[in-house]
Amino acid sequence: MASPRHFLQLKDLSREELDYLFERTRSIKARFKAYQRYWPLQDRTLVMIFEKASTRTRLSFEAGMHQLGGSAIYLNTRDSQLGRGEPVEDAAQVISRMSDIVMIRTFEQEIIERFARHSRVPVVNGLTNEYHPCQILADIFTFIEHRGPIRGRTVAWIGDSNNVCNTWLQAAEIFDFNVHVSTPPGYEVEAERAGLYGTDHFEQFADPMDAARGVDLVTTDVWTSMGFEAENEERLRDFADWQVDTEMMRAARPDAIFMHCLPAHRGEEVAADVIDGAQSVVWDEAENRLHTQKALMEFLLLGRVND
Ligand code: CP
Ligand code: NVA
Repeated sequence: MASPRHFLQLKDLSREELDYLFERTRSIKARFKAYQRYWPLQDRTLVMIFEKASTRTRLSFEAGMHQLGGSAIYLNTRDSQLGRGEPVEDAAQVISRMSDIVMIRTFEQEIIERFARHSRVPVVNGLTNEYHPCQILADIFTFIEHRGPIRGRTVAWIGDSNNVCNTWLQAAEIFDFNVHVSTPPGYEVEAERAGLYGTDHFEQFADPMDAARGVDLVTTDVWTSMGFEAENEERLRDFADWQVDTEMMRAARPDAIFMHCLPAHRGEEVAADVIDGAQSVVWDEAENRLHTQKALMEFLLLGRVND
């Protein structure tokens, strides 16, 4: 049996494959908006395993699979044997014999890699401590929709060098753009953990205002990611000067846009007048999770299609 294609990190797909996905996303999105039925995944089953909470990821995968003609099954740690110590390898064997594609949201990247090694079907990363590749598919697609090609542009990442930041950095290498990162001391990017080939596509700035100067896109995320709740109080203090506010947006290009993967904490990582303001594209960004992931599932299950 040929081993399936997985999507465990953004760089699991080539630049050319990602461009193809965006082309398919445009077509799938247009059909959805026109209420045209498109059921290429009829009789296919997606299993979604959540070890952490979710609104957007669950909704977009579940709705997306239904819209493509298939069905989706939700499992979580609490109600399945996964929470009672069944080995990941055993779960992968069983789940992948009963389904066509699996999406997992979990803690360490190593867990999803172990699952994928024992899976007969494609495995998709729905967020780990290290990466959130489905989010960045939607983010890059949204940037292109609003501003055209991202190659040669500059993105400012303000705040924690977390899973979403790491994936932006992988995207910068793949699509050849630059990222200005500003984190508080002690929270800097670790290139190896981010899975980068080098350090050519990002620059770290001590002052977030310097990172935002002249950029095309300003983006941020929560100061405390899921799984790190014990550090919350310390992080609230450490990140206090890393809020994206109107002054920071003024340092960026006048036509700069603002993104946030959501959920957001207004008054912490972003000021309400930025996320709710004219430069914010966060609702398009959230909606595009649906369309980009439909293209991803189609590609992983059917390869390239011509319609
Ligand atoms: N952005 C994102 O992944 O949202 P959820 O945690 O709601 O899935
Ligand atoms: N960095 C956040 C993203 C949530 C979608 C987290 O991991 O909790």
